[in-house]
Amino acid sequence: MALPKINPTTTNAWKKLSDHYKKQSNTHLRELFAEDANRGKAFNIQWKDFLVDYSKNRITQETLDLLLELAEEVKLKEAMTGYFKGDLINQTEGRAVLHTALRANKGDTILVDGENVVEEVYEVKEKIKSFSEAIISGDKKGFSGKAFTDIVNIGIGGSDLGPAMVTEALKFYKNHLKVHFVSNVDGDHVHEVLKELNPETTLFVIVSKTFTTQETLSNAMTIKKWFLKHASQKEVAKHFVAVSTNLEKIAEFGIADDNVFPMWDWVGGRFSLWSAVGLSIALSVGYQNFDALLAGAHEMDNHFKETPFSENIPVILALLSIWYNNFYGAETEAIIPYTQYLHRFSAYLQQGIMESNGKSVDRAGNRVGHQTGTIIWGEPGTNSQHAFFQLIHQGTKLIPTDFIGFKESLHGDVDHHNKLMANFFAQTEALMNGKTADEVKSELKSQGISGEELEALFPFKVFEGNKPTNTILINKLTPKSLGALIALYEHKIFVQGVVWNIFSYDQWGVELGKQLAKNILSDIENSEIGKHDSSTLHLLQYFKS
Ligand code: F6P
Repeated sequence: MALPKINPTTTNAWKKLSDHYKKQSNTHLRELFAEDANRGKAFNIQWKDFLVDYSKNRITQETLDLLLELAEEVKLKEAMTGYFKGDLINQTEGRAVLHTALRANKGDTILVDGENVVEEVYEVKEKIKSFSEAIISGDKKGFSGKAFTDIVNIGIGGSDLGPAMVTEALKFYKNHLKVHFVSNVDGDHVHEVLKELNPETTLFVIVSKTFTTQETLSNAMTIKKWFLKHASQKEVAKHFVAVSTNLEKIAEFGIADDNVFPMWDWVGGRFSLWSAVGLSIALSVGYQNFDALLAGAHEMDNHFKETPFSENIPVILALLSIWYNNFYGAETEAIIPYTQYLHRFSAYLQQGIMESNGKSVDRAGNRVGHQTGTIIWGEPGTNSQHAFFQLIHQGTKLIPTDFIGFKESLHGDVDHHNKLMANFFAQTEALMNGKTADEVKSELKSQGISGEELEALFPFKVFEGNKPTNTILINKLTPKSLGALIALYEHKIFVQGVVWNIFSYDQWGVELGKQLAKNILSDIENSEIGKHDSSTLHLLQYFKS
């Protein structure tokens, strides 16, 4: 069944939310906390080893009830059933959206075109297991008989960001293999990586769902040429493996049949790290940890599927984000993990969220009249505090922010962890409360500042506060909790796409630039430059001169 096509702005809940916003928007978070001593406990969800506190949002119980009413009115529950069941909800490409099937239980049945895809998923999982174990143990060797020491993932977008983010996030759990990522078509990227490698002990994993992506194929060809300077053609089979749906193109590249890891068109690139696209993750941290990552995601899938909306983490976080995006006019959201291990997390989510929900045509094919996808950005705390937090605290923009932290650190350095977490809690408190003019003045007075000097200085030291945050506090960064955290955001994307009445699982917006780049490449490589606007023409002439 197709997703419902309901314009959210025509629902009763939307109209009520607009009226409610007018009444509610001037209330400061400080007042909301003063009114209800129990607020901190009331607006939070505890699920397994996650505590999600969303009390520091500009909401009352009425706001929440209206947002939940909106979810009902746009038929979110019905949409969720289709999502998990394998309906062709990626309608513009005629595909199901089944990254959740990649972490389903063995024995589950999810049908696509009458075939149970879970069986295929488990066949590929077995292959990932045996292959990664043979490489890690050294049983599988390179052409000169030496065990592998380095792995290079060649891919871009979803074929790079997920594996790159997760291998960094799970560095604590990694083995002796060094994992590298080559993504950019910028030759300086691949050549820098090659400088570090020994062809005898390096395994190359080419990841491309389509196997037509310019960046990935160019990098793969450059690497193959480099490899063939040190080894013969027949050794390619020992050192190159591919993950793709395009078996024909893989064969053309010269990859041995045994070294092909299939994927499926019902998995979107940006949701594919759970498939063989995650091979470099399994190689880096071992199959068991890879499987635990999937198990964590599966637990979040069940939470999302089975929990009433009022207690459902992805649903609540999605609705809160809609509240700010569509009623307060907030344009961006920051995601700040308080662990260095998650330093690629917001870059990863930028693709997940912005490629999915950066759409302006609704499911009926009309231009939307409401705002859709938010702009996502962020860096780990505490570094980000010393970089852009000034703007979040005292700038003119409203930036709802997710704070992600862990009760335990991995290396167990309690001194550092307490300092880190003190900052974590301090920031959300500061953002919420701010500092009033009276508080600033009495602080200045206590420092011996008074009179004109005080009057001139105090306005700059006032913090308005009232800045919304969500706190996601998890026991420990493990493969399992990471899997659940990623799945949480995946489902948030889904909920928002359903409410905004857009298709979240295509990405036509990236095609135009690719098409033009092909033409311009021929302008660059040939003597004649084709027809362009005067700016592009002048730039091309200048570049070629
Ligand atoms: O350009 C966007 C995109 O299609 C992404 O959606 C995808 O993750 C990436 O390119 C890479 O595509 P492929 O895996 O087919 O090489």
